[in-house]
Amino acid sequence: MKGVILAGGTGTRLYPLTRLINKHLIPVGKHPMIMYGIDRLRQAGIEEILIVINKHSAGLYTEYLGGGADHGVKLTYRIQEKAGGIAEALDLATSSILPGEKFVVLLGDNLFSDDLKPYVDRYLQQPAGTARVLLKKVDDARRYGVPVFDPQHPERISYIEEKPSDPKTSYCVTGIYMYDDHVFNLIQNIAPSARGELEITDVNNHYAAAGGLEYDILQKYWSDAGTFQSLQEAAIRMKGQLP
Ligand code: G1P
Repeated sequence: MKGVILAGGTGTRLYPLTRLINKHLIPVGKHPMIMYGIDRLRQAGIEEILIVINKHSAGLYTEYLGGGADHGVKLTYRIQEKAGGIAEALDLATSSILPGEKFVVLLGDNLFSDDLKPYVDRYLQQPAGTARVLLKKVDDARRYGVPVFDPQHPERISYIEEKPSDPKTSYCVTGIYMYDDHVFNLIQNIAPSARGELEITDVNNHYAAAGGLEYDILQKYWSDAGTFQSLQEAAIRMKGQLP
């Protein structure tokens, strides 16, 4: 199984720091943010990892991480030329995933403490052409993708509402997704949203509509460390997770 970490984007909520350095290289405690996602994948036995980056800071990634040998993984990189949404960034992984191969996608700013292995194992039991997402209970779901569960099949999500003003549940869809190569067909068939991006929620809703979107709920710490306040907390919560 492979891993894909999406680490492009402009990180506008972390200006002015992200004018100097890509968001996913900002220090979280002793390590750049990206190291925590690499570690979670490696710990789940996923050692072949593609990192999607943008041109800004590309040299710093290769300088710090190289091919990954120092960190027990094999890294390759793809450059996202323009910011066009999570699904567009994911599409850059097409040529790295074999027909029928399953893989884990992480948004590089999602920091978390759960062990991914049990969730990955459950996804490996799912039929081809289905997907799995990881959820987290949150205080204010309005700034996330929010799942609505299928009353007939409690293991499934019926649909996801992206940033609803009146969320139907108190869970958020985190940036931890599991797919096989079928996802690339779906990405070809979605249109840009009102904000001009290919939305991962639209991709996930195709799976949901076909009855093929299952989930697990993270039990430990999770944050999409996109603001200075959440970054400060993340540095404390992640302390000790990496040597
Ligand atoms: C994205 C997704 C959203 C998800 C979030 C998790 O939102 O669109 O569904 O809940 O990541 O980090 P964004 O951070 O791009 O607004």
